[in-house]
Amino acid sequence: MNQTLGIVGGGGWLGGAIARAALNRGVLRPEALTLSWRSTPPRNMPGVRLTQDNRALCDGADIVMLSVRPEDWPAVAHPVPGKLVISVMAGVSLETMARAHQTTRVIRALPNAAAEVGASYTPLVAWFGATKADRDFARRLFEACGAVDEIEDEAHLDYLSGLTGTGPAYPSLMAAAMVEDAVARGLPEAIARRAVNMMFVGTGRLIETGNPDPASTVETFMAYRGVTAAGLDAMTQAGLPQAVRAGLSAALARTMQMNDAANS
Ligand SMILES: NC(=O)c1ccc[n+]([C@@H]2O[C@H](COP(=O)([O-])OP(=O)(O)OC[C@H]3O[C@@H](n4cnc5c(N)ncnc54)[C@H](OP(=O)(O)O)[C@@H]3O)[C@@H](O)[C@H]2O)c1
Repeated sequence: MNQTLGIVGGGGWLGGAIARAALNRGVLRPEALTLSWRSTPPRNMPGVRLTQDNRALCDGADIVMLSVRPEDWPAVAHPVPGKLVISVMAGVSLETMARAHQTTRVIRALPNAAAEVGASYTPLVAWFGATKADRDFARRLFEACGAVDEIEDEAHLDYLSGLTGTGPAYPSLMAAAMVEDAVARGLPEAIARRAVNMMFVGTGRLIETGNPDPASTVETFMAYRGVTAAGLDAMTQAGLPQAVRAGLSAALARTMQMNDAANS
């Protein structure tokens, strides 16, 4: 890979995680990477060029990635006619990006916090000017951070912002409720936390071995009619599936609000 990548906001959390993953997996050599920063320069990036000049980064890099918060994007939306632009920002549409950066080669990606440990789920969606080589590059880059799917419909990416872009947030809500219950029943907090966290780690590893259908896993446990089935039954009756649907609807509504603000 001889092309150079400049990450605007590469001093931030996600930009830094993507940069480290790309370097660790050999997708990019350090000298092919430039990161821009605003308040704090990125640390532990030997051989990588660091800059506060976003205009120069955009002019110099073959490919420009935007990894700033949406409200900071207008200040760095420099024209890069004909170049590939990759955005990890939630809420800023392909069309808005294409207009501001003056290129139809635009790809949006939505990783999550598990990019840090190479276990993100990252959907990609491409604007019409992105070539197969552009899409292949984006796929390789985000595969360094975990699993990737290319999707056709940008509306699905918006939905996925609140579904998988949230990373560990929803499982953590479930885990926190379990720890709280265990502590209320007298378990020492350290034991409760270790027990629950390890159960989630184990679940993740089991899922990795076979990409199971979660509904089938629930049915299998229900079929035993044992302790687990009693718990599942009561959680379902108490409205857990409806609560999840309400949460995902609220997350989608918030994404659409952000879209309206960023794309008007
Ligand atoms: N975190 C996630 O799990 C996640 C998941 C999916 C998508 N995203 C998206 O990814 C983007 C980055 O998120 P993040 O979590 O990495 O946020 P973050 O840690 O705040 O990173 C953004 C970085 O951009 C820097 N920045 C802002 N304006 C700049 C400028 N003019 N020049 C250079 N750097 C500038 C900020 O610098 P300062 O330190 O000065 O603020 C900050 O370091 C957001 O758009 C977010 O929606 C994040």
